[in-house]
Amino acid sequence: MSYEYILTEVPAPGVGLVRLNRPQALNALNNALMKELHDALSAFEADDGIACMIVTGSERAFAAGADIKEMLDTPYIDMFMRPTVTANFDFSRYKKPLIAAVSGFALGGGCELAMACDMIVASETAVFGQPEINLGILPGGGGTQRLTRAVGKALAMEIMLTDRRLTAQEAAQYGLVNKVVAVESYMDEAIKIGQKIASLSRVAVRLTKDAIQRAFETTLQEGLQAEQHLFYMAFATEDKQEGMTAFAEKRKPTWKHK
Ligand code: CAA
Repeated sequence: MSYEYILTEVPAPGVGLVRLNRPQALNALNNALMKELHDALSAFEADDGIACMIVTGSERAFAAGADIKEMLDTPYIDMFMRPTVTANFDFSRYKKPLIAAVSGFALGGGCELAMACDMIVASETAVFGQPEINLGILPGGGGTQRLTRAVGKALAMEIMLTDRRLTAQEAAQYGLVNKVVAVESYMDEAIKIGQKIASLSRVAVRLTKDAIQRAFETTLQEGLQAEQHLFYMAFATEDKQEGMTAFAEKRKPTWKHK
C-alpha cells in the first residue's frame, strides 16, 4: 500500500517499522497521518512474519504534536461526533509490542504517541513536553493520564501546567523512556530491541504484554488474578514445553509460536 504521510519498511526479520514522514510540518499529526499510521500498524499486526513494531519520525522531530492548523477551524461538534486525531491514541488494539524510537521534538500529541507505545528509545536530542496549555487547551491524546502515571503527579503538573520540557536524560531519570543513546544509533538500538523480541516465542510475548497492560487497567488484586490465568494459559502452549525442554537439554529453543 502506498501512503502520503508515512513510510514503512522491515529493517530486520520480524520487525515492522513505520516512519512518520511529514517533514515540512515536523510530523504534526493530522487526521490523515493518524489513519495511515493505524492502517500500517494494523497491516503489520496481521502479518505473521512480524513480531514487533517500531514507530519513529525524523532526527529533528518525532512529532511536534497534533496538527494545530487542522484543529484551528475544527468545531466542537466535529471533535465530538467524528473520529479525530485524539480518538486515535488508543493503541490497546495492538497485541504485538510497539517501540517508539524518538529523536528531536516529541511534543503534545507527539509525546502522547510515544507514550502510547510500549517502550521508548530516545536519542540524546529528544525533547518531551505537553505544551497544549499555550494553545488554550489541554492534552487530548492521553497525556494527562499516561504522563502522570509515568512520572508522578508533581512533575506531570509542572510539565502540563507550565510547559516544562524534559530532555532525553531527564526523561530517562524519571522513567519515561527506556534508554537514551547517541542520535546516530537510536534507530539501531530500537531495531536491536525489536530483533530480540522477534527471537522469542510470540505467544509468550503476547501473554506477557497482555499481563503487563493489566497493571494499568485494574486493581492489584485483579491484575494478579489475570496474571495467574495468563500464566496457566502458557502451560497449554507448545512453546512452554519447548522452552523448558531446551533449558533442560542445554540447547537453544526452536519456537513454534503456538
Ligand atoms: N501543527 C501544525 N504545524 C506545525 C506544528 C503543529 N503541531 N508544529 C510545527 N508545525 C509547523 C510550523 O507551523 C512550521 O510550518 P511553516 O514552515 O509552514 O510555518 C513548521 O512546522 C516548522 O515549525 P517551526 O518553524 O515552528 O520550527 P521551530 O524549529 O522554530 O519550532 C517547535 C519547533 C518548537 C516544535 C514549534 O514548531 C512548536 O512549538 N510547534 C507546536 C508544538 C505544540 O504546541 N504541540 C502541541 C499541539 S496540540 C496537541 O498535540 C493536542 C493533543 O494533545 C493531541
